[in-house]
Amino acid sequence: MSSAQTLTAQWQGEALTPLNPDTAFNGFICAHVVHTLERLGIFRKLQDDGSVEVSSFCRENELDETIVHALVRAAESFGYLQSRGDRVEATPTGEDVRRTLGFFTWGVGGYHDVFANGAAVARGERRFGVDLHRDEGMVALGSAQADTALMRHILDEEIAELDFTTLVDLGAGVSERVARLVKARPGSRGIGIDISKSATELAVGTVERYGLDGTVTPVCADVLDILFNGHQVKDAGEADVVMSFMFLHDLLVDPERRDQVIPRLRAAFPKANTFLLGDTTVRPRNGENTLPVFSDGFELAHALMGVPIYTREAYEDLFDRGGMHMRRAVPFGAPHTYLFVLEAA
Ligand SMILES: C[S@@+](CC[C@H](N)C(=O)[O-])C[C@H]1O[C@@H](n2cnc3c(N)ncnc32)[C@H](O)[C@@H]1O
Repeated sequence: MSSAQTLTAQWQGEALTPLNPDTAFNGFICAHVVHTLERLGIFRKLQDDGSVEVSSFCRENELDETIVHALVRAAESFGYLQSRGDRVEATPTGEDVRRTLGFFTWGVGGYHDVFANGAAVARGERRFGVDLHRDEGMVALGSAQADTALMRHILDEEIAELDFTTLVDLGAGVSERVARLVKARPGSRGIGIDISKSATELAVGTVERYGLDGTVTPVCADVLDILFNGHQVKDAGEADVVMSFMFLHDLLVDPERRDQVIPRLRAAFPKANTFLLGDTTVRPRNGENTLPVFSDGFELAHALMGVPIYTREAYEDLFDRGGMHMRRAVPFGAPHTYLFVLEAA
């Protein structure tokens, strides 16, 4: 089996459905414990040192030892940690969880209020973006953690095959990817475009950290303005490669404009030889009785936010009708997530 086949086989997941009430309730608590241990730096310490001595960890980090012991006991019940006296280690399943921490940061850290307010949203008492918000910082951190653990090596393999001098990332968040890729390709330059002022401010820090001032430029702009209102970002039209990650569905929200997005991308970046568009798709329902991590959370979160998401086939149809030729759809780490490698037809 190729690595891509192994990956897509894993997308079927191992959580048996129907989830019995014991599993469902414990899963809810367990996800919060995982997120809390991540926030406290315990998973990081386990990764770096192989084990953690709880009392000295609490002293060094000024943490309430009684609380941390309670969290560790809960993580032991869930089978993620094992103790020898005051020292804890991760179990093999705890190691697996460490590799998927990004999903917990995303779900518990980023979307806890959205999931908890489903009834209010259904009744029309609260609306996402008006009086109900996600934690943008946690969503960005979760994306970055998932990228590092699951996606980065796949993108690197694809980018290695491409020629570029100017790389543009749309919905770039904190511009981590564009900075990393430009750093690895001497002589290239990059532009990271994001609508969020705070993300763009953080992106300035990313660029400094990579030592790429003047080579990678974070720009605060609405990509829809670039596509539909003639807004120009300096040098972006020169892009040879245009990327976007976990962002394409945001461009497609307006049904009136949806079919125009791909042709407008081609027009806005006329010199681009390749578009690398990564996004999560709707999980195909094939009657299996298992679930993977993430997929159903991604679908429900977007339903509660009123943002449609798409099947792989719907994306392929959109690219085709928009005049982009798909070289391949590469399984991209997270369940039912693809990196679509496209060229202007
Ligand atoms: C799910 S995040 C993905 C961030 C980053 N690409 C990643 O994979 O970590 C989507 C990003 O798109 C940005 N965004 C949403 N709508 C946008 C728009 N119309 N124009 C530019 N950026 C936008 C958000 O601010 C956010 O940073």
